[in-house]
Amino acid sequence: MEQSFWMERWQQGRTAFHQESVNPWLARYGPDLFQNAHRVLVPLCGKSNDLFWLAARSKYVLGIEFVDQAVQAFFAENRLPFERSAEGRYRCLTAFPGQLEIQAGDFFALKAPPRFDALYDRAAMIALPPELRARYVPQVIRLLNPGARMLVVLIEYESSTVSGPPFSVTGAELEASYGHCCRITALGHEEAPAPERLRAAGLSAVREFAYSIEKQFDPADTADEMRA
Ligand SMILES: C[S@@+](CC[C@H](N)C(=O)[O-])C[C@H]1O[C@@H](n2cnc3c(N)ncnc32)[C@H](O)[C@@H]1O
Repeated sequence: MEQSFWMERWQQGRTAFHQESVNPWLARYGPDLFQNAHRVLVPLCGKSNDLFWLAARSKYVLGIEFVDQAVQAFFAENRLPFERSAEGRYRCLTAFPGQLEIQAGDFFALKAPPRFDALYDRAAMIALPPELRARYVPQVIRLLNPGARMLVVLIEYESSTVSGPPFSVTGAELEASYGHCCRITALGHEEAPAPERLRAAGLSAVREFAYSIEKQFDPADTADEMRA
């Protein structure tokens, strides 16, 4: 989606995707999945309070979010003192002396190394239409070390009449996108109320799925980039 689409949603306060409490999948599976995580990446982080949960259990958490208002809201609403710096095109806000950082900028422009050993994707992949998901997954793979673990939360629904965001992303798509270099494990699923935008289009419920994904190795194109 265009940045203007998300800016408008934040400006209008249409952010029902935001959860005040820790995501239940993260609370349940995070302690095991992220137990050895040092550097955790949270793409498309919004003002997610899950950043605190992750920061309490790792050395460094980096959230990436391109709407300034969301980044400002995270620090203001949590009354969190922060320092400002800049990293290339990104405006960086950092709290807990270096441990929790949000960089305001486009996820697709983020460069590695240093790479990350964990990634949390809740409402990130499903926020993107198919053509951007096709760029998102290679970017995620590029930014992770082999052995890195991800927790990915997706939703599925009958999408022939309703369109996202949030988009329906199936297990089959996940396999086709990540399967060539990652091991994917389904953790669980449950029915959830349809998000606001889908409800307005007549859908009452969606199925929410959680997966753990472990990157096994760098695919050839990423390995070439790393050597260059
Ligand atoms: C559905 S929200 C989810 C936010 C967060 N993950 C959560 O669980 O609350 C998606 C967020 O991604 C941001 N976003 C979308 N595309 C982005 C991009 N290319 N780079 C950085 N942020 C992006 C939007 O501004 C929005 O805040």
